[in-house]
Amino acid sequence: ADVARGAHDLAGRRIVVSAGGTREPLDPVRFLGNRSSGKQGVAIAEAAAARGAEVTLVAANLEVAEPGGCRIRHVSSALELRDAVREAAVGADAVVMAAAVADYRPAAVSEAKIKKVDGQDHLTLELVRNPDILAELGASDHDGTLLVGFAAETEADRDRLLELARAKRRAKGADLLVVNRVGWSQGFAADENTVAVVGPDDAIVAEASGSKMSVAHGILDVIAGRLAPGAA
Ligand code: CTP
Ligand code: CA
Repeated sequence: ADVARGAHDLAGRRIVVSAGGTREPLDPVRFLGNRSSGKQGVAIAEAAAARGAEVTLVAANLEVAEPGGCRIRHVSSALELRDAVREAAVGADAVVMAAAVADYRPAAVSEAKIKKVDGQDHLTLELVRNPDILAELGASDHDGTLLVGFAAETEADRDRLLELARAKRRAKGADLLVVNRVGWSQGFAADENTVAVVGPDDAIVAEASGSKMSVAHGILDVIAGRLAPGAA
């Protein structure tokens, strides 16, 4: 990895990275969100830029500082993230979907702040499915664009964790799937990370552990080795 880092091995490449967590609006002041900080995705964007790539970072509600050297597209909801990723993905060498995208959004967004109702002790929200952005890319004509998905799972058993990752990679038509385990205090806002990268044929093509920046370089080593011949 250290050699590759110095080698500008991503020069001339266009890489799209989504990072952060989407917020699904309920009304003008409320949303449904998740605990993704954006740290790992931002580290990948920053590391890719340092290795010479032209990076578009699609940033959803980051809780960390924005990286330098990248073009940044700010989004909030899953639908906004989808538009930005689709636009940036055209002709890209790789799309890295590190963002935590809400699977569901409120069926209706209230124009006015929702008021509580006296005597009403329960409130039921109706949610509808969001599009699966990675699966859409996987099913579309994406010749020459390497698709990289992420999965944060709470499964503690390593073999079952890897099985989930393999199934997810196949289901989404991604080339690579990066999996890590998360819990209430593990993964999301942490500075360190441990991941495995699952590739075609269900093989584990890499494992990386350490700072999110060092894990970012480990993931980029795999990506760099699998880009379609061309630039660089
Ligand atoms: N993803 C996406 N669009 C969605 C949901 C997820 O593009 N609507 C992407 C994520 O960015 C990630 C990958 O798909 O790269 C896996 O996300 P994950 O939530 O682990 O997968 P799901 O298929 O939503 O499975 P689960 O039911 O376990 O949440
Ligand atoms: Ca999901």
